[in-house]
Amino acid sequence: MILPLKLEGVSFLHIIKPLSLQIEAGPSTIILGANGAGKSVLMRLMHGLLAPSSGQVSWSGPEARRRQAMVFQRPVMLRRSAFQNVRYALDVAGAADADRVAREAMAEVGLSHLAHQPARVLSGGEQQRLALARAWALHPEVLFLDDPTASLDPTATR
Ligand SMILES: Nc1ncnc2c1ncn2[C@@H]1O[C@H](COP(=O)(O)OP(=O)(O)O)[C@@H](O)[C@H]1O
Ligand SMILES: [Mg+2]
Repeated sequence: MILPLKLEGVSFLHIIKPLSLQIEAGPSTIILGANGAGKSVLMRLMHGLLAPSSGQVSWSGPEARRRQAMVFQRPVMLRRSAFQNVRYALDVAGAADADRVAREAMAEVGLSHLAHQPARVLSGGEQQRLALARAWALHPEVLFLDDPTASLDPTATR
């Protein structure tokens, strides 16, 4: 068990004022706020991509076993096929059976027919779904989604 995630007096520059909270395992936790409120910064702090100016971000459970992934508001795709973007993430993570898992993740987000297209020519919404497939394929215990439906139509959002 790696949760709860605990923030104690976490601040970041002038953007996040000291904040303490705890996130438990279970149903999704949603962070709401106006544009520029600091939601993306907060998620990066939680995911460990930014170091807090003060305070502490901590998880229960051993660091080595923690599998977390993040899908960014503007996904960054590698210069290879859609399929290879997912496959590469699995290889880096040392996942077994990477070909099958990548194929399943592509199917899950309805992108099988675009598997061999260069990822960077996909539409914004397709790239967003590909980014989700790439994160899902890793079967993370914790998944951070930053505005994951911003460029999706209602069907894709569901
Ligand atoms: N790494 C950073 N260093 C300094 N300022 C940042 C950094 N990242 C974002 N900001 C600023 O922090 C504010 C909050 O941004 P952000 O977290 O992206 O808001 P949102 O709630 O819309 O996701 C913005 O004014 C942004 O310019
Ligand atoms: Mg944001």
